[in-house]
Amino acid sequence: MDRLKQTITEAVHNQSQPTVTVLSSLLAVQDAIGYIPKEALEEVAAFNGKTVNDIWGVASFYPNFRFEPLCQHNVEVCWGTSCHLVGAMPVMESVLGAAGLQEAGDTPDKVLSVGFNTCLGACSQAPVISVDHHLVGRVTPETAARKVAGLLAQPRTESGNGQ
Ligand code: FES
Repeated sequence: MDRLKQTITEAVHNQSQPTVTVLSSLLAVQDAIGYIPKEALEEVAAFNGKTVNDIWGVASFYPNFRFEPLCQHNVEVCWGTSCHLVGAMPVMESVLGAAGLQEAGDTPDKVLSVGFNTCLGACSQAPVISVDHHLVGRVTPETAARKVAGLLAQPRTESGNGQ
């Protein structure tokens, strides 16, 4: 069994909560490897006694599931109420501009993924962004753009996000 398949199998089979569902199985996979590959749809289907189409129906319903590997870097811009009130929109535009993207998504070279979040849990430091899962508070459009430029300037590694 290859390493990816083994990690998926362990994630699905080692869920500790009392009620295991299709959704909890998908979440376990995404927590383990950051996305839901085809192999995971098959494993979750077999584990839950469903068809792959059933699993796809659940997975595709939730916008937070990814179906492609994570990029090397990840930036999330919070656009929750607290952040929105103190300038999340200009920060968002600045991050997208620095990344060369029109909208949230991955750069074509898969170096950077930009997403939005409805609350990063640090409202007192609004506006907030998350840079490779580290929170950065009281950002300005300029400081946010510099963070993005810094990520894009880093040399690529084969292992990407560490998966
Ligand atoms: S609303 Fe942005 S961190 Fe909570």
